[in-house]
Amino acid sequence: MRRLLVASLLALSASGAFAAEIPGLPKISTERREQLVRDGFRYDKLPPELRARIDQDETQRLCTEYRNEPPPEVAAHIEKLARDSIVFPQDGNFLGDWKKGEALSLNGYGLRMGDDPKRQVGGNCYACHEMSPTELSYGTLGPSLKAYGKLRDYDREAIKEAYIKIYNPNATVACSTMPRFGTNKILSIDDIRHILAFLFDPESPVNRAE
Ligand code: HEC
Repeated sequence: MRRLLVASLLALSASGAFAAEIPGLPKISTERREQLVRDGFRYDKLPPELRARIDQDETQRLCTEYRNEPPPEVAAHIEKLARDSIVFPQDGNFLGDWKKGEALSLNGYGLRMGDDPKRQVGGNCYACHEMSPTELSYGTLGPSLKAYGKLRDYDREAIKEAYIKIYNPNATVACSTMPRFGTNKILSIDDIRHILAFLFDPESPVNRAE
């Protein structure tokens, strides 16, 4: 347990080749840190889908290396990778059913060991965002999304931008901490449409704030 905790702390503090400079903790190389994470999670015994959760992809590796502040050319490269991964709805329709979107925004199920693969995975948006003013429990890591559509006059370009944001937030903020819901197949295109309706339908409680 202690080993796991140390490994997780090191992973969180991750950055350049010799960057884990935290007072009281030893200075270690990126390679050593990666090894500690693997050891902590018994990497060799994990099924491939869980190994994939530990292996950093190019975006994560670059954001780690530059401590989430990549120079402009690296940021542009990451943003392009993200943009190229986005699949838009073929029929050009971005809005689904806001009630389903509300349920998905509240739902934090999924991506854990032992989860039922047949159960709907949620977006867990409230973990980081305020949305409907009727929901009092929300996190503040991300900006408030209260009255999101109303404040943008339900503009079609704004809807498309929000689709991009949810599908892959790194397309606009290279080292965003928001999950890449579409690219990482957490949510389907239909799920994202429902959530967009929750943000953009004038009837949605998100837009009926005082
Ligand atoms: C782990 C925290 C986290 C989760 C979960 C999360 N977000 Fe975010 N979100 C952020 C952060 C941080 C930002 C601001 C940085 C950025 O733009 O990438 C953000 C930005 C946004 C923006 C752009 C806001 C603006 O400035 O106009 C939208 C829209 C958004 N999130 C929607 C969602 C939706 C919908 C969900 C659920 C499907 C969600 N987020 C889940 C952290 C999160």
